[in-house]
Parts: sequence; C-alpha cells; structure tokens
Amino acid sequence: MRNITLTVNGQSVTAQVEPRTHLADFLREHLALTGTHLGCEHGVCGACTVAVNGEIARSCITYAVQCDGAEVTTIEGFDDDALMARLREAFTTKHGLQCGYCTPGMLIAARDLVRRFEQADARLIREEMSGNLCRCTGYMGIVAAVEQVMAERAELAALPPSQATLGPAPGPAAQISGQDRQPSAPARAAEAESRRAVPTADLEEISEEGLITLEQSFVVDHPPAEVWEFFGNLPQVARCMPGAAITKVSGDRLEGEIRVKLGPITAAFAGQGRITRDAAARRATIVGQGRDTRSGSRARGRIVYVVNDDAHGGTRVEVEIGYALAGTLAHFGRGGIVIDLANRLTQAFAENLKTRLAGGDTQTADGSAPAALDAGGLVWSVLWERLKAALRRLVGGR
Ligand code: FES
Ligand code: FES
Repeated sequence: MRNITLTVNGQSVTAQVEPRTHLADFLREHLALTGTHLGCEHGVCGACTVAVNGEIARSCITYAVQCDGAEVTTIEGFDDDALMARLREAFTTKHGLQCGYCTPGMLIAARDLVRRFEQADARLIREEMSGNLCRCTGYMGIVAAVEQVMAERAELAALPPSQATLGPAPGPAAQISGQDRQPSAPARAAEAESRRAVPTADLEEISEEGLITLEQSFVVDHPPAEVWEFFGNLPQVARCMPGAAITKVSGDRLEGEIRVKLGPITAAFAGQGRITRDAAARRATIVGQGRDTRSGSRARGRIVYVVNDDAHGGTRVEVEIGYALAGTLAHFGRGGIVIDLANRLTQAFAENLKTRLAGGDTQTADGSAPAALDAGGLVWSVLWERLKAALRRLVGGR
C-alpha cells in the first residue's frame, strides 16, 4: 500500500492505495465520486475522462499513485463552472445524450476542446471528440451542442472572471476558492502555442516514473557486430521504422519525428532524444520526448536495446520500451492492442532491417521518408484477429 495526498475537486484527500489501483476506481470506490464512469477500462472509450492538473486524462489508465500531489477534477467538480453549465444546457437542448453513460466524459472533453480552440467546425469537433465513444451513437446531437457553445465562445470570454474558465486551465482549487482569473487573449494564445511547441526541456530531466513498459525481441541472420554497427547510424535505423525520420544528430543528441495515422487522426510527434551506447555490452539506451504539434498530445519514453548472439549464429535484438502518453491521443496508449501493435511494428522493423543489412533500401521510390504508419488499419486487423481467436475458442478450437 502507498500513502497518497492529492486534491480532488478542491478538497485535499489523503489515502492508502494499492499501487495497481487506477484513478477511476479510487474516485468511485474511495471517494464515492461515481460521476466518473467506466466503460472499456482500456483507455479507449473516454467514459472515465477527468482533468488532472488542468489537462484531460483517462482515469482508467492512470494509476492513483501517479496522482500523488496532483489536482484532479471530476464531473462533480465542474458543478459551478460557467462553461460546463453552458455545455450541459446545450447537450440538453440539442439532444446530446440518450442513456447518459458517456456524458460526463463527453462534457469534460468538450470543455477542454472549447477552451483550446478559438473556432471549431463540425469536422474538427468530431476529430477532437473522437476519443470519446457514445454507445447510443448520439454523435449528431453532441457535435451540435459543442458547435453551439463554440458559437457562444466570445460571449463566454466576456463573463466576469469568477464565472468563466475559458483559456488555460486554472487549478481546480482556484476555481473552488473563487481565485480564478480569466487569462487575457494574448496569454491564452501563448499558452495554446506552448502546448503545441516541441518540448525542449533538458533531456536529463525526463521522468521515467509511470512509464508503461513492454518487451520485444527479434532475430536477424547477420552477426551481432554488423548489427551493432548498423544501429550506430541513427538516420539509417529510422528508415527501418514506418513514418519515422531523424532530422538532426549532434553528439549524443538527436531530433526527429514519427508520423502515425490513427483512424481519422494523423499525428506527427516531433521531439528530441539522447542516446547512450555501451559498445562492450552492445547495449544502448535512448530517452526522449515529443509532442504532436496539432493535438498537443505529449509522449515521453525510453528504449533500451541489447544486441546478443543468437544460438543459430545470427543476432537476437532484445528491446524494452517504456512510454507514457498524455493529452488527446492518450487513449491509444495502453492495453493488449498496444502490445499487439508493438509486435507488428517490431516485425515490420525487423523485416526492413534485414532488407537494409542485405544491401536493399526501405525508402519510397521517390526517395522520400517512409510512409506513415497507419495504426488505424492495424488496430482493425488486430481486432479482427482477436475476434477470430474468440470465435475459435467458442467452437472448441475447430
Ligand atoms: S473506461 Fe474507457 S477510456 Fe477509461
Ligand atoms: S448517451 Fe448513451 S453512451 Fe452516449
């Protein structure tokens, strides 16, 4: 058990929790805040969305211990929030809910959207809300409700500070204590810009706390010394990974980006990393962080790989990946689907590596960067494989 102290809806809370307790269970079962709903518990549906330190987060994939010292706001904490009141009203008049199960998460995500964008048409609203699923399929009403509040945005911005919380998130404690101050338009623009900017923080300070880790390995029919040497050329390595590119290498520092298609969303994470290579152990560690400049979603992580002898004379590459995603795209960050995706990515990488070690090229015909990974397509093929496996189990393995 671990002791944690956090602020929930403006109240300080101290509790003992198991390290495995996720925030949603903590809120619902320890604090009886049942407005936070649980749907998939895999970070996919968005029913459990809350705000942590002013940014929306999925409480089913956030451990309670990760929130030690944080400020958490659940749907109950937005009772007196002027913008949330407008959203509730719009959801009612535009019929933006049926059973209401998704509604707390929808409202918190919608509030975040209205604060981040000066303008948003139906297409952008659908894209931004695509991480929140409604099983009653009431999307038309939801989109219409958010559109209506977006149209009222100028009016909301003119509300007295104590009634409006547009702009960068003030802490929940500030809202409750009445110390909320409406940031000026330039301050909001600067905040929006900083959310989109590629992080430049000191790489030494990247926290490895709370990383989700997974392990992969693959074998190639080339000697370890050759593979290790190949891995020393980072731009060449990046060409083996769909959608990845290294744009700058300076000493142990590197900059690059990876483009991923996630269903209707195209994300381009740009960031920086630092690599440490131990030639004697043929082991390297890369730590890095990046940001999708469009959605503002952030990623940080660590990759450790070891180049070992394989029993059959080739090379076994062991890879440990630790990662954390925050922001709009965080729902793609966990669960068995991610492990399946990592397996497929590793396979693609290993195949491209073999091609390049054999003297071939993995670039596109026109010499441009490798095509972006279409994770949306992979997700569906993964789900299809899972469905087939479940059906096989149902019919007794036939
Ligand atoms: S319960 Fe579905 S995202 Fe958390
Ligand atoms: S209103 Fe029923 S799940 Fe969305």
